Amino acid sequence: MFLFKSNENNIFKKILPIKYLALSIMIVWTFIASSLLVWNISTKKKGTLENAKIEARTLIRKDILYREWNSMHGGVYVPVIKDTVPNKYLNILERDVETTSGTKLTMINPSYMTRQVHEIENKRDGVKGHLTSLNPIRPENLPDAWEEKALKLFHKGKKEESSMEVIHNKVYLKLMATLIAEKRCLKCHAAQGYKEGDIRGGLSVSIPLLPHKNIERQQIQTLYITYSLFWFVGATGITTGFFFLIKKIKNQITNEIKIKDQERLQGVLEMAGAVCHELNQPFQAVLSASEIIQIKIEHEESISEEVSILIDELKKMGTITENLMNITKYKTKKYLNGSIIDIDEASNYNTHKKLKGKNK
Ligand code: HEC
Repeated sequence: MFLFKSNENNIFKKILPIKYLALSIMIVWTFIASSLLVWNISTKKKGTLENAKIEARTLIRKDILYREWNSMHGGVYVPVIKDTVPNKYLNILERDVETTSGTKLTMINPSYMTRQVHEIENKRDGVKGHLTSLNPIRPENLPDAWEEKALKLFHKGKKEESSMEVIHNKVYLKLMATLIAEKRCLKCHAAQGYKEGDIRGGLSVSIPLLPHKNIERQQIQTLYITYSLFWFVGATGITTGFFFLIKKIKNQITNEIKIKDQERLQGVLEMAGAVCHELNQPFQAVLSASEIIQIKIEHEESISEEVSILIDELKKMGTITENLMNITKYKTKKYLNGSIIDIDEASNYNTHKKLKGKNK
């Protein structure tokens, strides 16, 4: 029972450091996997904003291109309809004309055109575009607080401004770019004192982030699944390795115990063999002397010879037991098919006796 407990202790002591090691590896592994996941998610989120910015820039670029086409013609004439009435802020000769057949035409300046296109764009795609300036001809073109800040930065040399904005409970990416007064623009804007290359204002677009966020959510979900699998594979590897090692150690210890037990049994057998061997001869002598004594007593003969044999043999037995009690080392000799303890050699009783004898 005690032996078993100490073996259990032995196994426990050997396994404990491995348990701690496995636990540490698992913690490090979990940390690595989750750090990679967090890093990947933040990269994805940055990517979403970057994609929205690219979309916003593309829209602005197209707006500017169409505006350039318009200013290339110094404004373009369109038929007057319910939604397209003459621009009261456009003070230009021949703003309103009539075709030979009597159709009324009015000149559309780039800004007016952009505004109308933005209205259509807003209805269709939810994109909000706004043309503005710190010094507007048309008061409705005044910037909001965000645009005002951006325009002031443009005057200090910045070319673009963007951020995430919540408008009417919806998240947008708002991006604004500068509008530079070119030669073509001066036909209508020179009167305000603008020169070529001046910052005339800015064009802002607000892109709804929801579609981008939806894609991002899907990508992040995939990341979660991929990383969970990634972590799981690693964790399984670590756990399997741990159990494999434990099994190996347990086997090793059980084997050691088996070998020790066998060695012990071997010792016991050798001792038993030696005792039997040593005691057998005096025992036989005592037995036969006793039998002779029995017969001689019946015939009333002298038994003194046999009694002295008995005493001699019993003394031998005494020496053997003394030797047995004084065994100090492991010595064997060949006996029959195996080996037995060499009691004389293994015991230090004889040497004592010999020394004592010499001293006397
Ligand atoms: C045909 C005349 C005309 C031309 C050409 C023209 N604009 Fe304008 N622009 C106007 C008028 C008129 C307004 C104000 C009314 C409005 O918003 O329609 C205006 C408004 C603007 C605004 C909005 C701020 C404000 O002043 O109300 C900006 C910015 C602007 N123009 C930039 C430009 C640039 C840059 C060019 C050259 C690429 C250009 N415009 C060419 C007539 C013109």
